[in-house]
Amino acid sequence: MSERAYDTSDTKTLFLGTNDGLQKSITCAAELLKAGKLVAFPTETVYGLGADVTNPDAIAKVFEAKGRPSDNPMIVHVANLGGIETCAEMDDRVRLLVNAFMPGPLTLVLPSKESVPLIARAGLPTVALRIPEHPVALELIKHVGPLVAPSANISGRPSPTTARHVIDDLAGRIAAVLDGGLCRVGIESTVLDLTQSVPVILRPGVITQLEIEGVLKDKVLLSEEGNESALEIEEAVKKDIPRSPGTKYRHYAPGIPIRLVIDQSIPEVRSSGQLVLTTERHKDRFREREVMVLSEAMLYEQFRRAEKAGYEGILIYAQPGELSEGLLNRVKKAEEE
Ligand code: TXA
Ligand code: MG
Repeated sequence: MSERAYDTSDTKTLFLGTNDGLQKSITCAAELLKAGKLVAFPTETVYGLGADVTNPDAIAKVFEAKGRPSDNPMIVHVANLGGIETCAEMDDRVRLLVNAFMPGPLTLVLPSKESVPLIARAGLPTVALRIPEHPVALELIKHVGPLVAPSANISGRPSPTTARHVIDDLAGRIAAVLDGGLCRVGIESTVLDLTQSVPVILRPGVITQLEIEGVLKDKVLLSEEGNESALEIEEAVKKDIPRSPGTKYRHYAPGIPIRLVIDQSIPEVRSSGQLVLTTERHKDRFREREVMVLSEAMLYEQFRRAEKAGYEGILIYAQPGELSEGLLNRVKKAEEE
């Protein structure tokens, strides 16, 4: 059977499938990465666009391929606690969280060691680190070493949860994509800033504030805008000033409008060209329309599918308190566009 599930022959991007052997594909991906090329790979959350963390030129190409602002730092993916230790200063909180949640969809922002090139962390003294749970990602890191990997989409588009999504956004801009099927989690990792005394969730995900508080036995703040650092929050709390609002970067949005309704009562669907996304409890209350059930795992796939299928827009409906903090954060951000 052919290794190419999709025809990428008219682009320079290799599709590394698993039909002819996963090991062969991983070895090929590892060789490309070691040569300073960009390879997208699966993680349990979303596909990442990988580059060798020790190669600043390769990292520069990641910013370019994604159209990513150069002041937006990247997550460094490592295989284990030892990998975290080579990149960052650790404390007991890190060990507790690694034991509880890693490998898994949690990213820690920590004081960086000099070994991490400044370009990866956009000039910051801190670095974001995570141990992905996907076996293909772990294997790749074991072959190459730590990898920077932002989500493998064009900046501002929904993150990719299949290899097909990666091809749709980045064909011709990257050396290869390593196929690992549909990502299990479907939204990006929880980002937790541990650089100050109060831990702050910068980006919510499926690992929740409550779960992290349970492990740390301490209060954890949830940044309202998802883009304030622990330092900004600590300073704002000290000075008693309101924390700065405003989202700096476009995020998670498909190319069609999204209308989010969080309300007790079912909204009116104004046009037949709308895709409705709602929770299991309400799906039959929209019987006339195309309705799909909301979940973290399928959200970005549904965004992209709706856009491709020619829907005019997406209506997202849930009652207050029904959506997880990660899902609510993503649908709000998508609506803001
Ligand atoms: O699940 C995920 O986290 C995926 C997979 C591929 O691992 N990656 C991902 O990367 O979502 P990216 O680059 O799309 O998002 C990383 C987030 C951004 O919001 C970035 O600003 C933040 O982490 N971040 C990275 N380094 C940081 C730092 N030193 N301080 C504060 N925020 C940081
Ligand atoms: Mg991203």
